Amino acid sequence: MSPTSFTTLRKRPAQTPATPMLSGPVRHDRNPSPNPKPIFQFLAIGLIVFLGFLQFLPATHFRDPSDPLRNWIPFNSTSSSTLRDSSSDGSFNSVGSNDGEDGLVHVVSWIQCLDLRMLAVLANSTLSNSRYPDLIYFHFFTPEGNKDQVSFHKLKVLFPHSNLEIHGQEEVKELIRSVASEAEYAKLNLGDIAPFVIPSFHQLLRKFIYVSPNVILKGSIEDLTGVHLSLHAVAAAEDCSKRLNTYVNYDVLEAIQRSASNPWVSETPYLKDYCIPDISLLLIDARKLDREFLAAFLWWSKVLNWSERSSEKNPAIALVLYDKYHKFSDSWLVKNSTSPQVSNMSMITHYDGPKIVCSEPGIGIHINQQMHNGNLWTQYLSPLSNLLLRE
Ligand SMILES: *[C@@H]1O[C@H](CO)[C@@H](O)[C@H](O)[C@H]1NC(C)=O
Ligand SMILES: *[C@@H]1O[C@H](CO)[C@@H](O)[C@H](O)[C@H]1NC(C)=O
Ligand SMILES: *[C@@H]1O[C@H](CO)[C@@H](O)[C@H](O)[C@H]1NC(C)=O
Ligand SMILES: *[C@@H]1O[C@H](CO)[C@@H](O)[C@H](O)[C@H]1NC(C)=O
Ligand SMILES: *[C@@H]1O[C@H](CO)[C@@H](O)[C@H](O)[C@H]1NC(C)=O
Repeated sequence: MSPTSFTTLRKRPAQTPATPMLSGPVRHDRNPSPNPKPIFQFLAIGLIVFLGFLQFLPATHFRDPSDPLRNWIPFNSTSSSTLRDSSSDGSFNSVGSNDGEDGLVHVVSWIQCLDLRMLAVLANSTLSNSRYPDLIYFHFFTPEGNKDQVSFHKLKVLFPHSNLEIHGQEEVKELIRSVASEAEYAKLNLGDIAPFVIPSFHQLLRKFIYVSPNVILKGSIEDLTGVHLSLHAVAAAEDCSKRLNTYVNYDVLEAIQRSASNPWVSETPYLKDYCIPDISLLLIDARKLDREFLAAFLWWSKVLNWSERSSEKNPAIALVLYDKYHKFSDSWLVKNSTSPQVSNMSMITHYDGPKIVCSEPGIGIHINQQMHNGNLWTQYLSPLSNLLLRE
């Protein structure tokens, strides 16, 4: 405090004697009001402030205007019932806010040939192992999409309280078809690239989990949504049983690197024994996703001359994601459920039930039934549910 302000404060009492001529007569006209005890004043103010603050508490219950009895309904069940309604009319614009922080865990999957059993096992294993199953919101992309109401209702019968939506694949396919040549498109395994293209059509999918339909979850999916991506757009587990040089001719890769100047080609030499990311389970933050992701993917597929329609993995995704993804812990790497020691500690395994497989990737003309090779799936599909879905 400066000396001048201190002196002005000290002077004030000395000035008061100058004013009594103004205030004095007015004050003497009335009886002085009784002085309440200071403690009561204090309590009254406290009570007002307390009641005021009650306004800021979140609402816990509400009354449905269309309910004649106007029962109080806890907010818990409301939020999920509105979501369910919005899921049945096929619009998900009504869900949450559009910054992606809607508190829901969006789980996206893309299936090439509709296999309801596989989707049901995926959904049930996710829900059964989740800490907050009410907050999980499934988006299944199927060939028929929401035109196939029968499949949707079958899943709804099994999981009546789940937030579940079925989408078509056409827009995603159209976009890829418009960028890729006919021959390139025919070669692609759309499931590889779809998770990265889907957010351009579904603005509300900001941060989401993509999961291949071909897995069974054993861990809690909330453990993944908490993963901090920092600057990366994608998180995945790395699979060190598959190295870069088993899919790519390293000399070709070096030659490409020397001659190409595309922004998505690494400036430092590619490591031969680089572990391939496992794209069966991804955490994607669409806001950070590179706009050129699809272009980079198609470019890599082309220059590497990846032409086999075989079971060989397309290494293009691994090269697009090279050094650009956050790594999940090893327990989230998809393992084979048939080896007991491995499955005991892993959070996710391959689906081991009977499968419907399209023998032509992406086209799905010939459908084969494949026999099952394990029993984990039966834990997540009761015999009755199995019967319902088989029809
Ligand atoms: C629902 O309510 C329970 C207890 O009332 C609470 O533990 C849970 O977090 C709530 N869930 C949601 C989604 O609000
Ligand atoms: C790509 O594959 C085709 C057919 O398999 C072959 O004719 C062509 O030479 C290959 N190109 C490169 C760059 O490997
Ligand atoms: C799992 O392992 C068994 C044998 O141990 C094998 O027959 C099966 O093909 C494997 N499944 C996958 C998906 O790797
Ligand atoms: C599986 O884990 C449990 C405890 O987590 C352990 O007691 C058991 O020995 C494990 N089984 C195998 C086959 O590793
Ligand atoms: C889901 O899995 C649980 C066991 O985790 C099982 O009890 C239940 O029957 C399954 N639900 C369906 C619809 O099969």
